[in-house]
Amino acid sequence: MLTCQKHLFSLPADLHYLNCAYHGPLLRRVEQAGIEGIRRKANSAAIQPEDFFRDADTARGLFARLVNVSDPMRVAIIPAVSYGMAIVARNTPVRPGQNLVLAHEQFPSNVYPWRALAREHGAEVRMVSPPEGADRRAEAWNARILEAIDDGTALVALPPVHWADGTCFDLDAIGARAREVGAALVVDGTQSVGALPFDVERIRPDALVVTGYKWLLGPYGLGLAYFGPRYDGGIPLEENWIGRLGSEDFAGLTRYQDEYQPGALRYDVGERSNPILLPMLIAALEQILAWGPENIQAYCAHLTAGFAEQAREMGFAVQETGRASHLFGVRPPAGLTLDRIRAVLDAHRVSVSVRGDALRISPNVYNDETDIAALLQALRTAAAPAATARF
Ligand SMILES: Cc1ncc(COP(=O)(O)O)c(C=O)c1O
Repeated sequence: MLTCQKHLFSLPADLHYLNCAYHGPLLRRVEQAGIEGIRRKANSAAIQPEDFFRDADTARGLFARLVNVSDPMRVAIIPAVSYGMAIVARNTPVRPGQNLVLAHEQFPSNVYPWRALAREHGAEVRMVSPPEGADRRAEAWNARILEAIDDGTALVALPPVHWADGTCFDLDAIGARAREVGAALVVDGTQSVGALPFDVERIRPDALVVTGYKWLLGPYGLGLAYFGPRYDGGIPLEENWIGRLGSEDFAGLTRYQDEYQPGALRYDVGERSNPILLPMLIAALEQILAWGPENIQAYCAHLTAGFAEQAREMGFAVQETGRASHLFGVRPPAGLTLDRIRAVLDAHRVSVSVRGDALRISPNVYNDETDIAALLQALRTAAAPAATARF
């Protein structure tokens, strides 16, 4: 079992940061890698032509290990989830009358591309709602998603866990159903990859898109995406030079080349060889691999084991089953507004997010029991006057 890793971060001692789903804080070694990158850029002669390729390939290799991809060349470097999804949208054929299946209230970067794609081709977006109430929500929601997938489904776009309340989607069953009807399975792993194991060989998504700045603990502005055989030979969003075959030969760049680099490298964003951000992402991925996502998840489960029961005693609703331990929603009792809770949390130096009708709690390995105790204390304080007012 991991122990608390806060000493590896620069977080303020008095802050209870339970908000990795918002922004992952930087490890000291990631911060240092960024500073060294700035210094290298300050003296640009230190940046060698091979640096344009080596760090990118190192990042691909680390991500491939993290999500169990055997060929790192299937990993592209992207600047944002929206970019990765735009690549998928550009290369997924959709016919009039077909449908695209999504879960209710996904993050917008995994909604807007599908709305545009559906509009463009006369298709329908099916946003599958959860059942009312917190009980058995995941089970019933997954069943509804499976029912929504039919012979007319061109694409299913889901996360492993819902970004607002941590509900887990059964991507094994949903992936199998998508394959049965020939639909593409596109996964936004942003709110889980890094803190919860994800196995590409097992789930077999056609694409897995992840931003670097949350559970990968990397910098803002850089992410990674796996593309399966369905997207081999596709059209990239842009025609950058480094994605072309032989781009390693800087003297020969004007011998223009129609062929792309192998695998998913054609989908790399222009200026993907960022000398500051890439070393930061590499340092973060190395540490996450050293910890292991399964151990991070176990640490979060252990840390929050008694939380739900205590929160329920105060009248808050917390999903019992079918949710992650690194990210989960807490819904307030009637009469207690999220604004009031937020004000009390701020006063207690507890950082969480409000997403939809829930407080989103998202711990990581830098948290310990004092953070959970502070959160519970703040919720107790926030709930007290509401309870008095009701009775
Ligand atoms: C599930 C999910 N996907 C993606 C993103 C970020 O998307 P983008 O990289 O397009 O800004 C977020 C940010 O909160 C998110 O929660």
